Amino acid sequence: MSEQITEHNSPARWLPAENATREINKVLEKPRKVYVTRKVHFNAAHRLFNPTFSDEKNCQIYDVCNNFYGHGHNYELEVTLSGIVDKETGYLFDLKVLKKILEEEILSKVDHKHLNFDVEMFRDTVPTAEVIAVVFWEVLSQKLKTMNLKGVDLYEIRVFESERNIATYRGE
Ligand code: NI
Repeated sequence: MSEQITEHNSPARWLPAENATREINKVLEKPRKVYVTRKVHFNAAHRLFNPTFSDEKNCQIYDVCNNFYGHGHNYELEVTLSGIVDKETGYLFDLKVLKKILEEEILSKVDHKHLNFDVEMFRDTVPTAEVIAVVFWEVLSQKLKTMNLKGVDLYEIRVFESERNIATYRGE
């Protein structure tokens, strides 16, 4: 038999009915700058090849990454926003919304694709991790601009080409 909930054993007894008149998130009275990150994953192939280089130079610079038919990576992408936390919601930016933006603007275009041949945003680029980070920055900063957000900035993009190889871009 379940225990009857009384005034004294209620797990929510520190939230009495007069709660509505309390001031919530007093800790945010002082503006707090916070960084929130959404991490996503995608698989894609690429070939590191610069058509303005000779075959020898492409081989010398990109080595195995110059493989004619490309090669794949399990990419991780981290997108970080910065700004002052909203006192009412306790959010800087709803990460469910960021998740949806990343799915629509990035993942639907790059996941299980060959970046050199299938993905318009990488046309005429050498899709290194560095270039991928910069291209994603352009796409996401454009998208966020259209949302007219107040006090929320794109702070950082990190592209993990492998566990050990990471490119970070902060819009500079
Ligand atoms: Ni590679």
